[in-house]
Order: sequence, then structure tokens, then C-alpha cells
Amino acid sequence: MTDLSQAPQAPAETAIIGGTGLTELEGLAVVDERVFDTPWGAPSGPVITGDFRGHRVLFLARHGHPHTIPPHQVNYRANLWALREAGAARVIGVNAVGGITPAMGPARIAVPHQVIDYTWGRGHTYYEQVGEAVLEGVTHIDFTFPYDESLRQALLEAASRRQVIAVDYGVYGATQGPRLESAAEVARLERDGCDLVGMTGMPEAALAAELGLPYACLALSVNWAAGKSDHIITMEEIASALAEGMAGVKAVLEEVIPA
Ligand code: HPA
Repeated sequence: MTDLSQAPQAPAETAIIGGTGLTELEGLAVVDERVFDTPWGAPSGPVITGDFRGHRVLFLARHGHPHTIPPHQVNYRANLWALREAGAARVIGVNAVGGITPAMGPARIAVPHQVIDYTWGRGHTYYEQVGEAVLEGVTHIDFTFPYDESLRQALLEAASRRQVIAVDYGVYGATQGPRLESAAEVARLERDGCDLVGMTGMPEAALAAELGLPYACLALSVNWAAGKSDHIITMEEIASALAEGMAGVKAVLEEVIPA
């Protein structure tokens, strides 16, 4: 039977799911690496337990290390399940995104407060029959506020202590990928109220909510979304914004882990 209320076995930890540009956390002394086999299949890789400047942290590379798993093939269910099994008490998802609204330009960090899910065909819930899992009923979790507010505030305070500019809002539009969007799709996302567009924010946030894990997203804009600049999106542009913005992301993580 799938028991979502099962208590974690290890002490509570902060878990980081690293996205594009963050397959490793520098300064993390690896204490342990555990390969989990979950009822939902294999996670993207081993869960690393590390010591980060004297603080315990769990780390999982969302796309594997090296980066090989595309956004639509990430086993989000197994990832969150494994992190909970490893003792995660809160989860920070680091996500590269495209910026749609004016504050969200390349290399800008944001801590989104809302999400719209445009993904499809992903394993997006624990409340379904998979293999041996037996469900006792249908459960509809509340998702009014998809991100944990105290974790969001902790991220924003960490950013401010490190003098990293971080936008304190953002509606994250989660698209299917792996291709980038058309200009018309981005225009629609903007009409829907999205500030940012990315491919990995969902179902991760919803699965964390199903497991009762406080979850927040630390988003790094790596390009203007399609049609929002005078040029098409290039991998060079993304790599340069990643290189510029990742130092700020790492500073925020360093500061928030002990908090
Ligand atoms: N669209 C979707 N996902 C992304 C983008 C984008 O423009 N940039 C980085 N991840």
C-alpha cells in the first residue's frame, strides 16, 4: 500500500533539487550517496547527503549528473519520494527559466509565488495506481498557495543578507518542453498572467504538496522568453546568463541552508 504519511527514517534536512547549471553544489562535502528504489521507479540519481559549511543538506540533480534527462522524462515522483525517504524536511527546487515580464530579464533571480501547469503526460500525482500501489480513495490536496510561504521568505531574506537581487513574486508557467516556446505561446502565457516560463516547475511543486513537504522554487532567468527580445534564443545566451546568475543562486543557497 502506498502510505503517504510514513515518517522519514533519517533526521530532517533541507533538500536541494538542482536544475540546469546546478548538477553539483560546490563546497558540499559528500558524506553519503544513496541510490533509492521507490514505488514510482528510479530517481534522477543518487541522493547526496552532504556537509555544507557545517550544515547537513540533501542534494539531487534533477536532470542527472551529467545532465542527460530532459524535463518531460524526469521522474518527479521518484525524486520527491526519495528525498522524503532520505529525511528531507523542506525542499528547494532550483529552476532555470525564461523571463516574460520586465523584471525577469536574463541573470535575474526570482522566488515565484504562483504556478500555472501546462505540462501533460507526466507522472504528476501519488494518488494513482502504479504497480503494486493500492489506493484507498481519491484525495484532492489544496494547492491554493503552491509554494511554502515561510520557505519563500527564508530564500528572500537569505538573498537580501547576501545582497543578491531577487524578485519576490512571479507566476511560473510550466511548459512541457523540451523545445522552447513559440512567440505566440509566450504571448498567451503572458495573457494568462505568467511572469516566468520553465519546464520543470511542475509537477514537482504539486508532488511535494502531496507529500506534505514544504517546497519553494528559486528561479534563475537565463533568457528572455520567445518573442520578448529582438532575437531568437541561443544556447550561448543561456550559458552566459547561467554563468552570470548562478553565483547569486549559490550565495542564496549557502545562506538559507543554516536558516
Ligand atoms: N522556456 C521554457 N523553459 C526555459 C526557458 C524558456 O524560455 N529558458 C530556460 N528554461
